[in-house]
Amino acid sequence: MASEETLPNSDFAFDLLKKLKVPYNVRRHSLKVAEKALELAEKIKLREIDMDLIEIGSLLHDIGRCKTHGFNHALIGAKIIRERGLSERLAKICETHILGGLDKEDAKQVGLPERDLLPQTLEEKIICLADKHLAGTKEVSIEQRFEKWFNKYGKTQILTKAKERIEKIQREIEDLM
Ligand SMILES: [Fe+2]
Repeated sequence: MASEETLPNSDFAFDLLKKLKVPYNVRRHSLKVAEKALELAEKIKLREIDMDLIEIGSLLHDIGRCKTHGFNHALIGAKIIRERGLSERLAKICETHILGGLDKEDAKQVGLPERDLLPQTLEEKIICLADKHLAGTKEVSIEQRFEKWFNKYGKTQILTKAKERIEKIQREIEDLM
């Protein structure tokens, strides 16, 4: 499908967020995630990164928050992207950015369809990691990000697993720098 190749520019992406009434704070957050993800991607020397995909994927990763702030915003976001004929690569970024990605069991546990929603490509991993570095618009370490969640929700199995997974992604990305 030709539409799978379509990557909108940043003005289009940002206007789409506004048009769908993604809340202002989420739009600010998404801009920060884009900044952080580009910063990480620029440091990577050992692999080819699609910088446009990093930027646009970051801007749109939370587009599903126009409908819900629950975990399902990942799948709703992907659906919005696909319905609009935008790149499947952007849909995948939406689907795989929650926590450190969700495996089948995690997905089922949080009430999503039982399938793996794990970041696979380097771009997906970088955006997932950058997102964890932003608490709203405030840059935090992975340690701080998870401390906040642990304080709020307890040291649940799903959060503990997520932390291990994102730390693994972080090591993998740093190894490419
Ligand atoms: Fe999100």
